Amino acid sequence: APLPKLFEPLTIRGVPFQNRLLVAPMCTYSADEGKATDFHLVHYGSLTLRGWGSVLTEATAVLPEGRISPQCAGLWDDAQIASWKRVTDFIHANRGKAGVQLAHAGRKAGTQTTWVLKEAGWTGGLIASDEVGGFSSTVYGPSPIAFAKGYLTPAEATPADIQRVVDGYAAAARRAKAAGFDYVQIHGAHGYLIHEFTSPNSNKRTDAYGGSYDKRVRLALEIARTVREAFDGPVQWRISATEWIEGVAGAEKQFPGAEEEYAWWGLEQTTRFAAQLRDAGVDLLDFSSGGNDPRQQVPVTGAYQAPFAAHVKKHVPGLLVGAVGLINTPELANEIVENGEADFISLGREILRNVDWPFEAAAALGVAANPAEQYRRGWAEREIKG
Ligand code: FNR
Repeated sequence: APLPKLFEPLTIRGVPFQNRLLVAPMCTYSADEGKATDFHLVHYGSLTLRGWGSVLTEATAVLPEGRISPQCAGLWDDAQIASWKRVTDFIHANRGKAGVQLAHAGRKAGTQTTWVLKEAGWTGGLIASDEVGGFSSTVYGPSPIAFAKGYLTPAEATPADIQRVVDGYAAAARRAKAAGFDYVQIHGAHGYLIHEFTSPNSNKRTDAYGGSYDKRVRLALEIARTVREAFDGPVQWRISATEWIEGVAGAEKQFPGAEEEYAWWGLEQTTRFAAQLRDAGVDLLDFSSGGNDPRQQVPVTGAYQAPFAAHVKKHVPGLLVGAVGLINTPELANEIVENGEADFISLGREILRNVDWPFEAAAALGVAANPAEQYRRGWAEREIKG
């Protein structure tokens, strides 16, 4: 019988992925000056042992000021490479593939990690002060507009800051290669720096990096091209397909007429941008949404972001697409891939609830189990004996 498509292998730029499952990137706020710790080795290593053929690690800052919190993962310094190599070596020794999400938090950088808040007896707000590793004085975004109440008002990024970001992405992509990562994902979603620049909601610049659609996506495309050049494996991009503020009181409609008058980022711009990312050498676009406007109203139901992936897959041939968000059952995950709505499925919270999901999905879809090598001899002996 043919394999259910969820378990069909696919090779991208010479990297063979054993199935269509990806671990969704999830921040763990457990790094030491950006370096991976034992927590990362055990956490990501255990996912590899439990059948997650490809592990995508958490948002990893390309520059120190791009961290969401002082405890975020990083690849802004060569000194961080060895710590991540230890994690990817373990994943490779156990037949897995490893990806890293390269991120810059922009105006949402420099916040405090919850447990540090408690341990430090913190009485301040969301923003980490300097005593607890904060770096609020270096936070920038496209325009001096805070994301929401309690967040920093960022400095307006200077041309030098913008160049530093592009160079930071290139250098981090080279370090990702040296650290053994098989692929990278650029974090262009959730109201972090790249999304902030692309959206007219947060980018009010009047220079070459703001204003018209072309100027707003300029930084993003520069990053896509420089990472493509710096990293010779698969490059993924995560996008917020919409900001979910259509119909929210006070938010103008997205299509008022001329393109320069977009008031916020939505699916029309995503589709146009997807073709440009493809042409810049991005292999896969992963569909998330929201995160750049606290007014967002997200209709959270099963697979609610998959229709965005399906739309772009239909309109932008030659670009692989990934779906994520409340895709929790093997049947639903497989159906989305079988129907051609997406090429890959990522799971986030379900992994934390049920690390064995891939084994259970294999059983549910009638696919042979694929345990770690260490179990195989005993497994085979028992199968023969019955
Ligand atoms: C996330 N998410 C996330 N997304 C991302 O692009 N980079 C990140 O570092 C994180 N961090 C993160 C931490 C935790 C604890 C959660 C639960 C989520 C979002 C995540 O990748 C995913 O898109 C959403 O969780 C929706 O998918 P699920 O959880 O419904 O499968």
